[in-house]
Amino acid sequence: MRRSITVRVPATSANCGAGFDVLGVSCALYSEITLTLTDETDEVTFDMTGEGANLIPTDKKNIVWKSVQFLLQRVNMAEKFTGGTIRMKNAVPLSKGLGSSAAAIVGGLKAANVIVGNYFNRSELLDLATEIEGHPDNVAPAVFGGFTVSTTENEKVNCFTFLPKIKLKLVAAVPDFPLPTREAREVLPQEVPRSAAVFNIGRAAMLVASLISGNERFIGDCFADMLHQPYREQLIPGMKDVIHAATEAGAYGAALSGAGPTMMAFAPLQGQNAVKVGDAMVEAFAQNGVKARAMILNMDTRGAHIVNY
Ligand code: HSE
Repeated sequence: MRRSITVRVPATSANCGAGFDVLGVSCALYSEITLTLTDETDEVTFDMTGEGANLIPTDKKNIVWKSVQFLLQRVNMAEKFTGGTIRMKNAVPLSKGLGSSAAAIVGGLKAANVIVGNYFNRSELLDLATEIEGHPDNVAPAVFGGFTVSTTENEKVNCFTFLPKIKLKLVAAVPDFPLPTREAREVLPQEVPRSAAVFNIGRAAMLVASLISGNERFIGDCFADMLHQPYREQLIPGMKDVIHAATEAGAYGAALSGAGPTMMAFAPLQGQNAVKVGDAMVEAFAQNGVKARAMILNMDTRGAHIVNY
């Protein structure tokens, strides 16, 4: 018996400035995963193309395969599907803060879920993905698309997803060096001052209010952060200069994308601003000795979806 499915999962940008571990946005840049499961072998074979293809593990430690197994075990079907094939066409830069691991996790879960007959709904898939990833802010937009606000209580994630009334281009400046999330979390303090918490709560709330209402009046002040960026600055040369360059070139604001090192600017959809913003960010990185490339992205509105079954 063999079952095969192809799913497509978007890249994501987490935090969006002040919304550390809470806010996320889905980007129209995809990882496409074809999963074949079988009981005819206990071997898994891999065929990787695209971004970081030669860096992705091709054994049972592969994160897509581990996520498939995670779901199969939850539905007591791991014995039934012992082996298979994973084919991945990946456009999401690896270890750059654009949700490559979230895309792999959600892709594995989504594909396996379809094969077992859609045992879990999307909200339950998000719970499983968060259990694997540890925080919901990348996996939530990867599952649902759009802009997401997530809260977690007793391992249950509540996710509000919406399409902003302020239309945005997402301008990523992607440095050529990777930064594992684990390393970028190790530099963060366990405790933060109350003033920093208040600073961020206000901005995260203001950003969501601005995006939902379509009122641009305060949006330029919403992307600053005191919970993680000041500590991560040592890992990303030129971080402040890149933010400054992006806003000077016409972006509403810019911030670290997830744990970095990519910087994400939020630019008005209309006009040529996005190209100017991207160029300015790449130039600011270059001034700080960092080689980077710009990616100008639309927001994804669908989240993980089936391409072929
Ligand atoms: N919120 C996470 C962080 C995103 O900033 O560490 C990275 O996956």
